[in-house]
Amino acid sequence: MRERMMSPKAESRIATDVHQEHPRERQHYGTVVSVPIALDATVRGTSVGNLNQLLADTMTVRDLYKKHHWQVSGPTFFQLHLMFDKHFDDQSELVDAIAERIQMLGGVSLAMSHDVAERTLIPRPPRGREEVSAQLGRLLHAHEIVLKEARAMARQAAEGGDDGTNDLLVSQVIRTNEKQVWFVGEHLADGPLAEHEG
Ligand SMILES: [Fe+2]
Repeated sequence: MRERMMSPKAESRIATDVHQEHPRERQHYGTVVSVPIALDATVRGTSVGNLNQLLADTMTVRDLYKKHHWQVSGPTFFQLHLMFDKHFDDQSELVDAIAERIQMLGGVSLAMSHDVAERTLIPRPPRGREEVSAQLGRLLHAHEIVLKEARAMARQAAEGGDDGTNDLLVSQVIRTNEKQVWFVGEHLADGPLAEHEG
């Protein structure tokens, strides 16, 4: 059977649309469309803005884990190689959950690496290989940035009545990052620094 072919004119119109400097968009980044989930547009807009920041930072943490998975060295190579990849997988799940929450709220999620690079608060690592202690320290610092912002965002979502976002932040983002800090921290040669209580 003959396949239905697009007319050359229609094909070239699509090609032009894709390559236009300002292609037609269904929804611009930074806007929130109406969705019937009984949440005010202002509340949804605030959550979308916060979640896009968190998305950029989570994508950066995810990629940092893959970089370290590839570039790790030394006597603990195999353990760390595996742990970094496990954490990469867990962070990838968070990325998907955050991005889909943004869409659910009527927003537009960030997606591409150049947009992420412009937006993230996590310091850029060197291209070269770092020592294990530097890799671990860099990861702990990145996790702390994410945890600090995620807790503030969770409180803001709860105050606005966006319980779904609050739950995602607390049950998935905060808990996953705290657990990964534990695993990474225990690999430091001297263990985590003891702090006095009270
Ligand atoms: Fe691998």
